[in-house]
Amino acid sequence: MNNNLFISLSVPLIFNMHFKDRDLISINDLSKEEILFLLDQAKKVEAFSHAKRFGLLQGKIMASLFFEPSTRTRLSFSSSMEGLGGRVIGFDDEKTTSVKKGESLFDTIKMVEQYADVIVMRHPRDGAARLAAEASSKPIINAGDGANQHPTQTLLDLFSILKTQGKLEGLNIAMVGDLKYGRTVHSLAMALSHFDCNLFFVAPPMLRMPKQYLDELRRKGMTVSEHEKMEDVLGKVDVLYMTRIQQERFPDPADYEKVKHVYRLTRKGLTNVKPNLKIMHPLPRINEISTLVDETPYAYYFQQAGNGIPVRQALILQIMGVQL
Ligand code: CP
Repeated sequence: MNNNLFISLSVPLIFNMHFKDRDLISINDLSKEEILFLLDQAKKVEAFSHAKRFGLLQGKIMASLFFEPSTRTRLSFSSSMEGLGGRVIGFDDEKTTSVKKGESLFDTIKMVEQYADVIVMRHPRDGAARLAAEASSKPIINAGDGANQHPTQTLLDLFSILKTQGKLEGLNIAMVGDLKYGRTVHSLAMALSHFDCNLFFVAPPMLRMPKQYLDELRRKGMTVSEHEKMEDVLGKVDVLYMTRIQQERFPDPADYEKVKHVYRLTRKGLTNVKPNLKIMHPLPRINEISTLVDETPYAYYFQQAGNGIPVRQALILQIMGVQL
């Protein structure tokens, strides 16, 4: 990795960053400078030993409220908080909570805010994180709300792009798969609008990137193109961001059946790609990337998930008002 790029980022960015007690609901809540500052902080955290990290948040409590399944986001937030010396309370199944008895999200948050210093929440409903933030006097971090936003995934995606490509500007980036329901691609596309990238959106007609995002990106002067075939863009891109077709979000199961195998990246398909290509994926994968691709130098999705720790630690520290 090129350490200098992080040093060069940090110089103009260290002043006037106020994250203490702030919510993070949408990636649009952050300016370009704030995003770059958080990535720089993540780099600093990564350089710390585990012993140095432990103790930074002793006595602090994070509430982890997962109303929808998760492996990476939930466990990496918990691991991040505990690695900083804090503690985690919460649930990963709403059926074990009083929501099952009919308690509203608003009332749930009014209770949890009294038990924790920061609240991380995933919810199946678009806009649930914003509602929670309106209810809470404690900071809310959106760990994914429906098909809407997943801002901390985007921060770790940007960190992964920066680590592997050495820059965020001027890249060719393809997003492939379920661009209609994929909250990770919605957040990432908006974040990349701060950087002068060419975006290639590859999806079947029924799963195209929603018009509101296309309009916003074009309004910001981004070069955006839409494609149906992954092969049309494979040889051009620096980052191939694969996504799963999200069965759980289809109103009609018959529609899912039509597109569930639409993309499959194989090792053979990677013969004419750029040498610096990195394949990313927010995971979980279903069948869209052959496991044989894992052994190629292009595969980066498991390291990408690992980048969730320094990025989420940096964010929690900033929201808790701890300066590195
Ligand atoms: N990337 C991501 O959000 O994965 P999980 O659903 O497992 O948290």
